[in-house]
Amino acid sequence: MTEIASPQANPLLAGLKMRRPPDPCALTIFGASGDLTQRKIMPALYSLAMRGLLPPRFGIVGVSRTEMGVDEFRERMRRTVLDHARDEFRTDVWERLSEAICYVTADFGVEGGEEPLVECLNGLDERRGTAGNRVYYLAVPPSAFDDIVVALGRSRTTEGWTRLIVEKPFGRDLTSAQELNELIRGHFDEDEIFRIDHYLGKETVQNMLVLRFANGIFEPIWNRQFIDHVQITVAESLGIEGRASFYEAAGAVRDVVQNHLLQLVALTAMEPPIDFAAESVRNEKVKALRALHTPGPKHVVRGQYGPGYIEGEEVPGYREEEGVAPDSQTETYVAAKLFVDNWRWADTPFYIRTGKRLPKRETTIAIQFKRAPHPPFEVDEEGGLRPNVLLIHIQPDEGVSLAVGAKVPGQGITIRTVHMDFLYGGSFRMGLPEAYERLILDCLLGDATLFTRADEVEEQWALVDAMVAPWRRDRPHFPNYAAGTWGPPAADELVHRDGRSWRRH
Ligand code: BG6
Repeated sequence: MTEIASPQANPLLAGLKMRRPPDPCALTIFGASGDLTQRKIMPALYSLAMRGLLPPRFGIVGVSRTEMGVDEFRERMRRTVLDHARDEFRTDVWERLSEAICYVTADFGVEGGEEPLVECLNGLDERRGTAGNRVYYLAVPPSAFDDIVVALGRSRTTEGWTRLIVEKPFGRDLTSAQELNELIRGHFDEDEIFRIDHYLGKETVQNMLVLRFANGIFEPIWNRQFIDHVQITVAESLGIEGRASFYEAAGAVRDVVQNHLLQLVALTAMEPPIDFAAESVRNEKVKALRALHTPGPKHVVRGQYGPGYIEGEEVPGYREEEGVAPDSQTETYVAAKLFVDNWRWADTPFYIRTGKRLPKRETTIAIQFKRAPHPPFEVDEEGGLRPNVLLIHIQPDEGVSLAVGAKVPGQGITIRTVHMDFLYGGSFRMGLPEAYERLILDCLLGDATLFTRADEVEEQWALVDAMVAPWRRDRPHFPNYAAGTWGPPAADELVHRDGRSWRRH
């Protein structure tokens, strides 16, 4: 094992070891000419190559229906790395990676459409020693899954291992997700299936597990007796970025609540796993998801943005975005009050919210503790004695901060809230890896801990189906919040009714 950082540079990094290198293998990307490959997958592969984390015997095959030669594909990928990678561009790293790249034009909708791919992969086994080990990455719209999965199933051999990465959206409701699970499991075992929720690849999301389960001080107070409520916010200032055809059919509830937000709820609410093995962690998450109580219509608020201003710039309303119906009923904002029906959390609300075109990009988990039972001081009107809040900054400004009351220096007792902060950037002084780097590497290593299991995805859909069922009966008054504001007034009422308020930003 090699040490990956010099202790002189930063003592917090002393003694860190690299995990074992992945087996030789070939990674096939379906949807190679698409947005995800360009913005996330290829830049992540480059960053892994830069750190020497890819297997020495490795091949990448881009597959799509677009006619293109390998040189053109490599050139496109080079440009994409230049534009989107988090690391500086190094010619030596790129050249080594580029040699591993092939491109295949294929249409899996036609009989025998997979043959050019099979040929290419066999060639890689011979030339680059990829040993029959295969990772297939489905970065295509769900409508293309069926043909590809069936063809891959047909062309499976007994040589080497096979893994399948499936991008979201995984279905559009419980029934379609179950059908998709059934289709995939007809050809792949559950331990060969890696369903991506890229939030799980974020360092700060994984740190949630470390914070809770590697520190003895939190577990005794992580429950209904000490915690008043939890607020989880996934706010974005961006709009739909030209993805109208996808977003019109998805909306905020399917795009973000069903996956990222509910995963954050599960990680906050779950019981301690007995170890960090994939099945142990996922067993506990699924139990938490199963315990979620379906929120009634009064506990769910939806919104859609109208025109407004983001950082001083005028932006159009959702209905004016290109490709969006002028009377669109699609929600771009959702807030809800959830309950986890178990001994740890009974009667403790989990308020969740997500939206596009909110004033800023911010994902946080705020654990608000109960107030001190009896303040033995006189509390001034202005500062007051606020409850303690443990704030987990998922992004940006990644870190954790604890709000505590402190005495203002001087005469008498005046209390103000101050923050004890841990910032990743300040402590570790290194850039955080992109979620896709971690997830692709874990899949190459065969570690499914940070991927969602079939039963988790189905539980998430069951809740979302129940949340949206009443929506079929009424037409909301959209737009109901201006771009650049914190969502519709009804979202504030949702928490004000309980005598609480959303965290101030
Ligand atoms: C994606 C959604 O899954 O997550 C997007 O489809 C959203 O609509 C994105 O913008 C947010 O991811 P991140 O990593 O930027 O918070």
